[in-house]
Amino acid sequence: MKIALGADHGGFDLKRAIHKYLEEKGHSVLNLGTDSTQPADYPDFAERVASAVARKEAERGIMVCGSGVGACIAANKVPGARAAVCHDTFSARQGVEDDDMNVLCLGARVIGPQLALDILESWLKARFSDQERHRRRLSKVLAIEGKYLRASN
Ligand code: RB5
Repeated sequence: MKIALGADHGGFDLKRAIHKYLEEKGHSVLNLGTDSTQPADYPDFAERVASAVARKEAERGIMVCGSGVGACIAANKVPGARAAVCHDTFSARQGVEDDDMNVLCLGARVIGPQLALDILESWLKARFSDQERHRRRLSKVLAIEGKYLRASN
């Protein structure tokens, strides 16, 4: 799978571990920075990751910041992105199966690297279930997005 990967300074170390893990598992990684622990603003990287997914330059995205929260808020401002902070494997799996989550946000100051990789594994294995009730709910989510996009144009 082609995966866009980004982080701010708080997420840099975990991003590096994730990058290595993804490559070892045979995934193709689109590294969108940051590439050091120098202070960097999470919205800049969250936008890159989310827009790469929205433009289909990557199938999914991963964004790491200190808590995962700022990155998630920023990523969800990009139409087409469906980002969520997941710090457990159930949410990571079900978020894809039921909600078609396409950007995983992680908080490097909340979870350790091993749990992050377990979460990642569950998220990577999961596929949207395509069940009628989930398609219906997703289309309602997309309708909300469309309504406010039209209102702002
Ligand atoms: C940066 O210090 C920190 O605010 C950021 O990494 C993230 O936790 C925001 O949600």
